[in-house]
This record gives sequence, structure tokens and C-alpha cells, in this order.
Amino acid sequence: MRALLGVAVLLAACSGAKQEPGAADLQWAESSRPASAQLAERYERSCMACHSVNGTGAPLAGFAPHWKPRIDKGIDQLVRHASEGFNAMPAMGACNDCSADDLRALTLFMARSGT
Ligand code: HEC
Repeated sequence: MRALLGVAVLLAACSGAKQEPGAADLQWAESSRPASAQLAERYERSCMACHSVNGTGAPLAGFAPHWKPRIDKGIDQLVRHASEGFNAMPAMGACNDCSADDLRALTLFMARSGT
């Protein structure tokens, strides 16, 4: 019985720890850019301020545990939220010259699904 409890505690601790990005995740978020130079420039100018820093409330770029539950709601909803704003997420991600396609590509890049 005690052993079982131990396993349960260990599992709970592991799943909790998985939500916290490690050094490699933080490194990826800081150093990675979309492949397109134009997108990379827009990304650096807007999304990065919030999405490349852990603890801002924004899902961390490239960090799957932050993005998976959002992606599960459907990419169209995510892109709509990026365009219209969502809670502390500013409309257009504070990127006034981003097109809808740019927002989609930047979202996919940060969620690391595609691009
Ligand atoms: C001022 C900070 C800030 C900037 C700049 C910013 N975001 Fe966000 N973003 C947030 C926060 C905070 C959230 C989490 C909102 C929530 O879930 O309550 C978020 C969430 C999102 C989501 C998930 C929405 C959902 O439905 O779960 C997407 C997609 C997104 N941002 C895309 C972008 C893109 C693309 C850019 C750059 C063009 C960008 N963001 C720039 C703060 C920012």
C-alpha cells in the first residue's frame, strides 16, 4: 500500500514537473525563429516579448505542454484569438502589419506543429 502511494506521489510530481520548462525549452524559445526572414522579423518585433519568456502568462514558444491543450481546441480558434485578442493576449499579437496568414504561421511555429 505504501509503495502504491509512493508511485502515485511520484507520478503526480512528474506530471507537474512536465509543465515547467527546462533549460533546453527556455533556450529553444529564446533562440529559435521562423524560417522566413520576414516572419522572423515580425516575430522578434511582436510575439517574442511575451512568448519567448517563461512566466508572462503567455504559452512559451516551442514548449509543447503549454501549447498542446490549446492546439487541441483547433488551430482556427487559436488564430482567431491571436487576431482578435484573448485575455492578456493583445489583438494581432501587437503586430499591426501581420496578415491572417502570418498570424497562423507564427502560431504554428510557436506550437511547433508545421513550419
Ligand atoms: C503583450 C504580450 C503578448 C504578445 C506581444 C503576444 N502574445 Fe500571444 N498571448 C499572450 C498571453 C498572455 C496569452 C495567453 C492568454 C490566455 O490564455 O489567457 C497568449 C496566447 C496566445 C495564443 C493562444 C490563444 C488561445 O486560444 O489559446 C496564440 C495563438 C498567440 N498568443 C499568438 C501570438 C502571436 C502570433 C503573437 C505575435 C504576432 C503574439 N501572440 C504576441 C501574450 C502576448
